[in-house]
Amino acid sequence: MSEHVVRTGDRRRANCNWKLVVDAFSEGCHLKSLHKDSVEPFFLEHGTVFAKLGRHSRSVGARKAILEARALPQSQWNLRAWTTPFYTLFPNNMLVFHPDWVSRITVYSDGTDHCEVQHDMLIPGDADPEAGYWDTSFRLINEQVFAAEDIAACESIQRMARSGADSEWPIGGLETPVLWFHQHIREALQEAG
Ligand SMILES: [Fe+2]
Repeated sequence: MSEHVVRTGDRRRANCNWKLVVDAFSEGCHLKSLHKDSVEPFFLEHGTVFAKLGRHSRSVGARKAILEARALPQSQWNLRAWTTPFYTLFPNNMLVFHPDWVSRITVYSDGTDHCEVQHDMLIPGDADPEAGYWDTSFRLINEQVFAAEDIAACESIQRMARSGADSEWPIGGLETPVLWFHQHIREALQEAG
């Protein structure tokens, strides 16, 4: 990360509570449904493992290419190419490690039902910053995967929450980091009085 530079970025207003955006980047189990027309074909169905790091969390989603590991000695394993690690950095930052660049997402609360989402593209400092490849790759992730799929789902969930249709929000075992996040928010608010 210390050798990465910001290539480009985007900021957008989202019509949802900021915590819904953090929820969306705290688990990988929605890939199969929400991202089925974009990045899902690259991933194994149930390939996400996660760990709690204080108030932060780290998840690792396995790409289908990881199956190559079975035929290779461990010294040739390539975690970065075969997985997508992502971090929730408490309270409002997320890092997603794509194979050759990093998404840095910071969400700022702007009222109960609105937030601002900043998405920066971090690329290796020695990469060619003018290569059109970066723009294409950023557009796919920023416009399609994040805006049209993740953020759109967050806004839909916000509308549903506002309607009062659901009084309980069950959290499944595959999305445990979402539970941790909300427990840590509650703790932090209690500490702050
Ligand atoms: Fe997503």
